[in-house]
Amino acid sequence: MRVIIYTGKGGVGKTSVAAATARMTARMGYRTMVMSTDAAHSLADSLDTKLSGNIQTVEENLDAIEIDVLYEMETRWKELEKYVSDLLMSQGLESLSAKELAVLPGMELMSALFYLWDFNLNDRYDVVIMDTAPTAETLRLLSFPDVSRWYIDKMYNLFRRMMYMARHTVGRMVDFPLPTDGFLNSMQSISDRMISVRTLIQDPERTTIRLVVNPERMVISETKRAYTYMCLYGMTVECLILNRLIPEAECSGYFEQKLEEQQRYVKMIHEAFDPMPILNAYQMPTELVGPEKLDELAEMLFDDEDPSQLLYTDNPMKFWAEDGANVLSLAIPFSERGEVELYNKEGDILIVQVGNHRRNITLPLSLARAKMLGAELKDGRLQVRFERGETDD
Ligand SMILES: Nc1ncnc2c1ncn2[C@@H]1O[C@H](COP(=O)(O)OP(=O)(O)OP(=O)(O)O)[C@@H](O)[C@H]1O
Ligand SMILES: [Mg+2]
Repeated sequence: MRVIIYTGKGGVGKTSVAAATARMTARMGYRTMVMSTDAAHSLADSLDTKLSGNIQTVEENLDAIEIDVLYEMETRWKELEKYVSDLLMSQGLESLSAKELAVLPGMELMSALFYLWDFNLNDRYDVVIMDTAPTAETLRLLSFPDVSRWYIDKMYNLFRRMMYMARHTVGRMVDFPLPTDGFLNSMQSISDRMISVRTLIQDPERTTIRLVVNPERMVISETKRAYTYMCLYGMTVECLILNRLIPEAECSGYFEQKLEEQQRYVKMIHEAFDPMPILNAYQMPTELVGPEKLDELAEMLFDDEDPSQLLYTDNPMKFWAEDGANVLSLAIPFSERGEVELYNKEGDILIVQVGNHRRNITLPLSLARAKMLGAELKDGRLQVRFERGETDD
Protein backbone atom coordinates (compact mmCIF):
# COMPACT_ATOMS: atom_id res chain seq x y z
CA MET A 1 0.00 0.00 0.00
CA ARG A 2 1.37 3.37 -1.04
CA VAL A 3 0.53 6.36 1.17
CA ILE A 4 0.89 9.92 -0.08
CA ILE A 5 0.37 12.77 2.37
CA TYR A 6 -0.22 16.22 0.94
CA THR A 7 0.40 19.08 3.27
CA GLY A 8 1.27 22.77 3.17
CA LYS A 9 0.16 26.18 4.36
CA GLY A 10 -3.53 27.15 4.36
CA GLY A 11 -5.09 27.63 0.95
CA VAL A 12 -2.13 26.58 -1.21
CA GLY A 13 -4.03 23.84 -3.02
CA LYS A 14 -3.61 20.68 -0.90
CA THR A 15 -7.17 19.49 -1.33
CA SER A 16 -7.22 20.14 -5.07
CA VAL A 17 -3.91 18.34 -5.61
CA ALA A 18 -4.96 15.41 -3.40
CA ALA A 19 -8.26 15.02 -5.23
CA ALA A 20 -6.58 15.35 -8.63
CA THR A 21 -3.96 12.72 -7.76
CA ALA A 22 -6.60 10.33 -6.45
CA ARG A 23 -8.73 10.62 -9.58
CA MET A 24 -5.71 9.89 -11.71
CA THR A 25 -4.48 6.83 -9.78
CA ALA A 26 -8.04 5.46 -9.78
CA ARG A 27 -8.21 5.92 -13.53
CA MET A 28 -4.95 4.04 -13.87
CA GLY A 29 -6.53 1.07 -12.14
CA TYR A 30 -5.18 1.45 -8.61
CA ARG A 31 -7.67 0.84 -5.85
CA THR A 32 -7.53 4.35 -4.41
CA MET A 33 -8.69 5.96 -1.19
CA VAL A 34 -8.63 9.72 -0.72
CA MET A 35 -9.04 10.76 2.87
CA SER A 36 -9.50 14.24 4.29
CA THR A 37 -8.11 14.71 7.78
CA ASP A 38 -8.76 18.44 7.93
CA ALA A 39 -11.64 19.20 10.30
CA ALA A 40 -12.68 21.95 7.85
CA HIS A 41 -13.30 19.49 5.04
CA SER A 42 -13.45 20.63 1.45
CA LEU A 43 -12.67 17.39 -0.34
CA ALA A 44 -16.31 16.79 -1.25
CA ASP A 45 -16.58 20.29 -2.72
CA SER A 46 -13.42 19.80 -4.68
CA LEU A 47 -14.58 16.46 -6.11
CA ASP A 48 -18.03 17.98 -6.52
CA THR A 49 -19.73 15.12 -4.72
CA LYS A 50 -21.18 14.29 -1.31
CA LEU A 51 -18.95 12.69 1.31
CA SER A 52 -19.25 11.76 4.97
CA GLY A 53 -17.45 10.13 7.86
CA ASN A 54 -18.16 6.74 6.28
CA ILE A 55 -16.21 5.40 3.34
CA GLN A 56 -18.00 6.07 0.10
CA THR A 57 -17.31 4.99 -3.44
CA VAL A 58 -17.03 8.03 -5.69
CA GLU A 59 -16.34 6.16 -8.88
CA GLU A 60 -14.69 3.03 -10.13
CA ASN A 61 -11.58 2.36 -8.02
CA LEU A 62 -12.05 5.58 -6.06
CA ASP A 63 -13.28 5.69 -2.48
CA ALA A 64 -13.27 8.77 -0.27
CA ILE A 65 -13.92 9.74 3.32
CA GLU A 66 -13.97 13.01 5.23
CA ILE A 67 -13.02 11.95 8.71
CA ASP A 68 -15.69 12.99 11.17
CA VAL A 69 -14.14 13.08 14.54
CA LEU A 70 -17.36 13.15 16.56
CA TYR A 71 -18.53 10.06 14.73
CA GLU A 72 -15.16 8.42 15.33
CA MET A 73 -15.43 9.22 19.02
CA GLU A 74 -18.89 7.70 19.20
CA THR A 75 -17.80 4.53 17.48
CA ARG A 76 -14.08 3.83 17.59
CA TRP A 77 -13.36 5.69 20.78
CA LYS A 78 -16.56 5.20 22.74
CA GLU A 79 -14.81 4.32 25.98
CA LEU A 80 -12.39 7.17 25.67
CA GLU A 81 -15.06 9.69 24.83
CA LYS A 82 -17.30 8.52 27.64
CA TYR A 83 -14.63 8.77 30.28
CA VAL A 84 -13.21 12.12 29.15
CA SER A 85 -16.63 13.73 28.84
CA ASP A 86 -17.71 12.32 32.23
CA LEU A 87 -14.54 13.74 33.66
CA LEU A 88 -15.20 17.15 32.11
CA MET A 89 -18.81 17.13 33.24
CA SER A 90 -17.76 16.29 36.78
CA GLN A 91 -15.79 19.51 36.64
CA GLY A 92 -18.93 21.48 35.83
CA LEU A 93 -19.04 21.47 32.04
CA GLU A 94 -22.33 21.18 30.18
CA SER A 95 -22.71 17.79 28.55
CA LEU A 96 -22.70 19.14 25.01
CA SER A 97 -19.51 21.14 25.42
CA ALA A 98 -17.95 18.23 27.32
CA LYS A 99 -18.63 16.04 24.32
CA GLU A 100 -17.02 18.54 21.96
CA LEU A 101 -14.08 19.10 24.27
CA ALA A 102 -13.46 15.39 24.67
CA VAL A 103 -12.20 15.57 21.10
CA LEU A 104 -8.51 15.99 21.57
CA PRO A 105 -6.56 18.06 19.10
CA GLY A 106 -5.24 15.90 16.30
CA MET A 107 -7.82 13.19 16.60
CA GLU A 108 -8.71 13.49 12.90
CA LEU A 109 -5.21 12.56 12.01
CA MET A 110 -5.07 9.87 14.65
CA SER A 111 -8.28 8.40 13.25
CA ALA A 112 -6.71 8.60 9.81
CA LEU A 113 -3.81 6.55 11.12
CA PHE A 114 -6.20 3.92 12.38
CA TYR A 115 -7.78 3.76 8.95
CA LEU A 116 -4.32 3.34 7.46
CA TRP A 117 -3.60 0.57 9.90
CA ASP A 118 -6.82 -1.17 8.95
CA PHE A 119 -6.43 -0.70 5.17
CA ASN A 120 -2.92 -2.04 5.34
CA LEU A 121 -3.88 -5.06 7.40
CA ASN A 122 -6.76 -5.96 5.12
CA ASP A 123 -5.12 -5.02 1.83
CA ARG A 124 -8.00 -2.77 0.87
CA TYR A 125 -6.22 -0.19 -1.26
CA ASP A 126 -3.18 0.17 -3.47
CA VAL A 127 -2.92 3.91 -2.96
CA VAL A 128 -4.09 6.03 -0.04
CA ILE A 129 -3.95 9.78 -0.47
CA MET A 130 -4.28 12.06 2.53
CA ASP A 131 -5.44 15.64 2.34
CA THR A 132 -4.41 17.22 5.63
CA ALA A 133 -4.99 20.39 7.65
CA PRO A 134 -2.58 23.30 7.16
CA THR A 135 1.00 22.57 8.10
CA ALA A 136 1.38 23.69 11.68
CA GLU A 137 -1.24 21.27 12.89
CA THR A 138 -0.20 18.40 10.66
CA LEU A 139 3.39 18.90 11.68
CA ARG A 140 2.78 18.49 15.32
CA LEU A 141 0.95 15.33 14.50
CA LEU A 142 3.44 13.85 12.15
CA SER A 143 5.51 13.20 15.16
CA PHE A 144 2.37 11.40 16.33
CA PRO A 145 3.30 7.78 16.52
CA ASP A 146 6.20 8.65 18.76
CA VAL A 147 4.79 11.55 20.66
CA SER A 148 1.26 10.33 21.02
CA ARG A 149 2.47 6.94 22.14
CA TRP A 150 4.63 8.61 24.68
CA TYR A 151 1.70 10.62 25.98
CA ILE A 152 -0.62 7.67 25.91
CA ASP A 153 1.82 5.51 27.82
CA LYS A 154 2.36 8.26 30.36
CA MET A 155 -1.34 8.90 30.71
CA TYR A 156 -2.05 5.21 30.90
CA ASN A 157 0.40 4.78 33.74
CA LEU A 158 -0.88 7.87 35.43
CA PHE A 159 -4.48 6.71 35.24
CA ARG A 160 -3.56 3.25 36.44
CA ARG A 161 -1.75 4.68 39.40
CA MET A 162 -4.58 7.04 40.10
CA MET A 163 -7.02 4.17 40.09
CA TYR A 164 -4.87 2.03 42.28
CA MET A 165 -4.43 4.79 44.80
CA ALA A 166 -8.04 5.80 44.75
CA ARG A 167 -9.19 2.23 45.26
CA HIS A 168 -6.88 1.74 48.15
CA THR A 169 -7.09 5.08 49.87
CA VAL A 170 -9.51 7.89 49.27
CA GLY A 171 -11.94 5.72 47.34
CA ARG A 172 -15.25 7.48 47.37
CA MET A 173 -13.89 10.88 48.24
CA VAL A 174 -12.56 11.93 44.87
CA ASP A 175 -14.85 14.29 43.03
CA PHE A 176 -14.18 12.96 39.55
CA PRO A 177 -14.97 9.63 37.93
CA LEU A 178 -12.20 7.04 37.95
CA PRO A 179 -11.05 5.66 34.63
CA THR A 180 -12.88 2.52 33.65
CA ASP A 181 -11.23 -0.70 32.51
CA GLY A 182 -12.74 -0.12 29.07
CA PHE A 183 -11.04 3.25 28.91
CA LEU A 184 -7.69 1.82 29.96
CA ASN A 185 -8.01 -1.02 27.46
CA SER A 186 -8.73 1.39 24.64
CA MET A 187 -5.70 3.47 25.61
CA GLN A 188 -3.61 0.34 25.49
CA SER A 189 -4.90 -0.61 22.08
CA ILE A 190 -4.28 2.90 20.71
CA SER A 191 -0.74 2.64 21.94
CA ASP A 192 -0.23 -0.78 20.32
CA ARG A 193 -1.59 0.31 16.96
CA MET A 194 0.58 3.40 16.99
CA ILE A 195 3.62 1.16 17.04
CA SER A 196 2.44 -0.75 14.04
CA VAL A 197 1.35 2.30 12.04
CA ARG A 198 4.66 3.94 12.76
CA THR A 199 6.57 1.38 10.72
CA LEU A 200 4.21 2.08 7.83
CA ILE A 201 4.41 5.85 7.85
CA GLN A 202 8.14 6.03 8.44
CA ASP A 203 8.93 3.61 5.62
CA PRO A 204 10.24 5.74 2.74
CA GLU A 205 9.26 3.08 0.20
CA ARG A 206 5.63 3.29 1.23
CA THR A 207 4.79 6.63 2.81
CA THR A 208 5.92 10.01 1.58
CA ILE A 209 4.99 13.61 2.10
CA ARG A 210 4.45 16.01 -0.75
CA LEU A 211 4.62 19.65 0.21
CA VAL A 212 2.31 21.97 -1.66
CA VAL A 213 3.64 25.49 -2.03
CA ASN A 214 2.86 28.73 -3.88
CA PRO A 215 5.45 31.22 -5.10
CA GLU A 216 4.85 33.58 -2.17
CA ARG A 217 7.17 34.62 0.60
CA MET A 218 5.11 33.61 3.61
CA VAL A 219 4.15 30.30 2.09
CA ILE A 220 7.80 29.51 1.41
CA SER A 221 8.92 30.36 4.94
CA GLU A 222 6.29 28.12 6.47
CA THR A 223 7.03 25.31 4.05
CA LYS A 224 10.73 25.44 4.83
CA ARG A 225 10.02 25.15 8.49
CA ALA A 226 7.62 22.28 7.88
CA TYR A 227 10.17 20.52 5.74
CA THR A 228 12.84 20.75 8.40
CA TYR A 229 10.61 19.32 11.07
CA MET A 230 9.35 16.54 8.87
CA CYS A 231 12.93 15.47 8.19
CA LEU A 232 13.59 15.69 11.88
CA TYR A 233 10.65 13.38 12.60
CA GLY A 234 12.03 10.84 10.17
CA MET A 235 9.33 11.26 7.54
CA THR A 236 10.28 11.21 3.89
CA VAL A 237 9.54 14.40 2.02
CA GLU A 238 9.35 13.33 -1.57
CA CYS A 239 8.69 16.40 -3.67
CA LEU A 240 7.30 19.88 -3.81
CA ILE A 241 4.16 20.75 -5.69
CA LEU A 242 4.61 24.31 -6.87
CA ASN A 243 1.06 25.42 -7.48
CA ARG A 244 -0.44 28.62 -8.86
CA LEU A 245 2.42 29.67 -11.08
CA ILE A 246 1.42 32.36 -13.49
CA PRO A 247 2.44 31.39 -17.02
CA GLU A 248 5.09 33.70 -18.41
CA ALA A 249 3.21 34.22 -21.64
CA GLU A 250 0.26 35.68 -19.71
CA CYS A 251 2.32 38.14 -17.75
CA SER A 252 2.42 41.23 -19.91
CA GLY A 253 1.23 44.60 -18.59
CA TYR A 254 -0.63 44.31 -15.35
CA PHE A 255 1.09 41.10 -14.25
CA GLU A 256 4.66 41.94 -15.26
CA GLN A 257 5.68 42.81 -11.73
CA LYS A 258 4.02 39.68 -10.47
CA LEU A 259 6.15 37.62 -12.83
CA GLU A 260 9.35 39.22 -11.57
CA GLU A 261 8.31 38.55 -8.04
CA GLN A 262 7.42 34.97 -8.90
CA GLN A 263 10.82 34.37 -10.47
CA ARG A 264 12.49 35.63 -7.33
CA TYR A 265 10.46 33.26 -5.21
CA VAL A 266 11.07 30.30 -7.48
CA LYS A 267 14.78 30.92 -7.04
CA MET A 268 14.30 31.04 -3.30
CA ILE A 269 12.46 27.72 -3.46
CA HIS A 270 15.39 26.14 -5.28
CA GLU A 271 17.83 27.50 -2.71
CA ALA A 272 15.82 25.92 0.02
CA PHE A 273 14.79 22.58 -1.48
CA ASP A 274 17.18 21.45 -4.21
CA PRO A 275 17.71 18.64 -5.19
CA MET A 276 14.17 17.64 -4.31
CA PRO A 277 11.95 17.23 -7.40
CA ILE A 278 9.44 20.02 -8.03
CA LEU A 279 6.20 19.46 -9.92
CA ASN A 280 4.63 22.58 -11.38
CA ALA A 281 0.99 23.55 -11.74
CA TYR A 282 -0.25 26.80 -13.20
CA GLN A 283 -2.92 29.11 -11.97
CA MET A 284 -6.05 28.22 -13.89
CA PRO A 285 -8.10 30.98 -15.42
CA THR A 286 -11.28 29.67 -13.77
CA GLU A 287 -12.19 28.09 -10.47
CA LEU A 288 -10.58 24.71 -9.86
CA VAL A 289 -13.55 22.59 -8.86
CA GLY A 290 -15.03 19.34 -10.12
CA PRO A 291 -13.71 16.29 -11.96
CA GLU A 292 -12.83 17.96 -15.25
CA LYS A 293 -10.70 20.69 -13.72
CA LEU A 294 -9.07 18.27 -11.33
CA ASP A 295 -8.07 16.06 -14.23
CA GLU A 296 -6.57 19.09 -15.96
CA LEU A 297 -4.57 19.80 -12.81
CA ALA A 298 -3.37 16.18 -12.63
CA GLU A 299 -2.24 16.36 -16.22
CA MET A 300 -0.24 19.53 -15.53
CA LEU A 301 1.42 17.88 -12.57
CA PHE A 302 2.04 14.35 -13.73
CA ASP A 303 1.68 14.46 -17.49
CA ASP A 304 1.08 10.79 -18.20
CA GLU A 305 3.43 9.51 -15.52
CA ASP A 306 2.16 7.40 -12.66
CA PRO A 307 1.36 9.86 -9.82
CA SER A 308 1.89 7.17 -7.20
CA GLN A 309 5.46 6.40 -8.19
CA LEU A 310 8.17 7.30 -5.74
CA LEU A 311 9.91 10.37 -7.05
CA TYR A 312 12.64 10.61 -4.50
CA THR A 313 13.42 8.78 -1.32
CA ASP A 314 16.68 10.20 -0.12
CA ASN A 315 15.81 13.02 2.23
CA PRO A 316 18.16 15.88 1.40
CA MET A 317 18.15 16.83 5.06
CA LYS A 318 19.01 14.38 7.82
CA PHE A 319 19.75 14.65 11.50
CA TRP A 320 21.61 12.43 13.90
CA ALA A 321 23.82 12.55 16.98
CA GLU A 322 27.44 11.48 16.88
CA ASP A 323 30.46 11.81 19.16
CA GLY A 324 28.76 14.23 21.47
CA ALA A 325 27.56 16.51 18.65
CA ASN A 326 24.29 16.91 16.77
CA VAL A 327 24.86 16.53 13.06
CA LEU A 328 22.80 18.05 10.30
CA SER A 329 23.54 16.49 6.93
CA LEU A 330 22.50 18.28 3.74
CA ALA A 331 22.58 16.87 0.24
CA ILE A 332 24.39 19.41 -1.88
CA PRO A 333 23.05 19.32 -5.41
CA PHE A 334 26.22 20.82 -6.89
CA SER A 335 29.52 19.02 -7.03
CA GLU A 336 31.66 22.12 -6.95
CA ARG A 337 34.50 22.07 -4.50
CA GLY A 338 35.56 25.22 -2.79
CA GLU A 339 35.23 27.14 0.35
CA VAL A 340 32.14 26.28 2.35
CA GLU A 341 30.76 29.30 4.14
CA LEU A 342 28.09 29.12 6.76
CA TYR A 343 26.09 31.99 8.19
CA ASN A 344 23.45 31.88 10.80
CA LYS A 345 20.86 34.51 10.05
CA GLU A 346 17.97 35.74 12.19
CA GLY A 347 18.53 32.92 14.62
CA ASP A 348 17.09 29.96 12.80
CA ILE A 349 18.13 30.41 9.15
CA LEU A 350 21.29 28.68 8.05
CA ILE A 351 22.87 29.95 4.86
CA VAL A 352 25.34 27.65 3.17
CA GLN A 353 27.47 29.07 0.42
CA VAL A 354 29.72 26.83 -1.69
CA GLY A 355 31.31 28.73 -4.58
CA ASN A 356 28.45 30.48 -6.36
CA HIS A 357 25.80 28.24 -4.95
CA ARG A 358 23.71 29.01 -1.98
CA ARG A 359 21.43 26.93 0.17
CA ASN A 360 19.16 28.49 2.64
CA ILE A 361 17.51 26.29 5.20
CA THR A 362 15.54 26.64 8.39
CA LEU A 363 17.03 25.02 11.45
CA PRO A 364 14.93 23.27 14.06
CA LEU A 365 14.81 25.44 17.18
CA SER A 366 16.98 23.11 19.21
CA LEU A 367 19.83 23.50 16.70
CA ALA A 368 19.25 27.19 16.04
CA ARG A 369 20.19 27.84 19.65
CA ALA A 370 23.22 25.56 19.64
CA LYS A 371 26.77 26.57 18.81
CA MET A 372 28.01 25.53 15.37
CA LEU A 373 31.17 23.47 15.71
CA GLY A 374 32.13 23.16 12.06
CA ALA A 375 31.23 21.69 8.72
CA GLU A 376 32.66 19.40 6.08
CA LEU A 377 31.75 18.15 2.62
CA LYS A 378 31.61 14.37 2.48
CA ASP A 379 30.18 12.14 -0.27
CA GLY A 380 28.11 14.88 -1.84
CA ARG A 381 26.70 15.94 1.50
CA LEU A 382 27.51 18.78 3.78
CA GLN A 383 27.71 17.80 7.40
CA VAL A 384 27.30 20.55 9.93
CA ARG A 385 28.10 19.79 13.54
CA PHE A 386 26.38 21.50 16.45
CA GLU A 387 27.14 21.43 20.12
CA ARG A 388 24.88 19.07 22.00
CA GLY A 389 22.94 20.46 24.93
CA GLU A 390 22.66 18.67 28.24
CA THR A 391 19.05 17.78 27.59
CA ASP A 392 19.49 16.54 24.03
CA ASP A 393 18.89 12.86 24.65
N1 LIG B 1 -3.84 25.99 -9.82
C1 LIG B 1 -4.97 26.59 -9.43
N2 LIG B 1 -5.67 27.37 -10.27
C2 LIG B 1 -6.82 27.95 -9.87
N3 LIG B 1 -7.36 27.83 -8.67
C3 LIG B 1 -6.72 27.07 -7.77
C4 LIG B 1 -5.48 26.41 -8.09
N4 LIG B 1 -5.08 25.72 -7.00
C5 LIG B 1 -6.00 25.95 -6.04
N5 LIG B 1 -6.99 26.75 -6.49
C6 LIG B 1 -8.17 27.24 -5.74
O1 LIG B 1 -7.70 27.79 -4.52
C7 LIG B 1 -8.59 27.50 -3.46
C8 LIG B 1 -7.83 26.76 -2.38
O2 LIG B 1 -7.46 25.50 -2.87
P1 LIG B 1 -7.54 24.19 -1.96
O3 LIG B 1 -8.81 24.12 -1.23
O4 LIG B 1 -7.15 23.05 -2.82
O5 LIG B 1 -6.36 24.55 -0.96
P2 LIG B 1 -6.03 23.92 0.46
O6 LIG B 1 -4.56 24.05 0.61
O7 LIG B 1 -6.63 22.57 0.56
O8 LIG B 1 -6.76 24.92 1.43
P3 LIG B 1 -7.04 24.70 3.00
O9 LIG B 1 -5.76 25.00 3.70
O10 LIG B 1 -8.09 25.70 3.30
O11 LIG B 1 -7.48 23.30 3.17
C9 LIG B 1 -9.72 26.67 -4.04
O12 LIG B 1 -10.78 27.54 -4.32
C10 LIG B 1 -9.12 26.13 -5.32
O13 LIG B 1 -10.14 25.93 -6.28
MG1 LIG C 1 -7.91 21.74 2.03
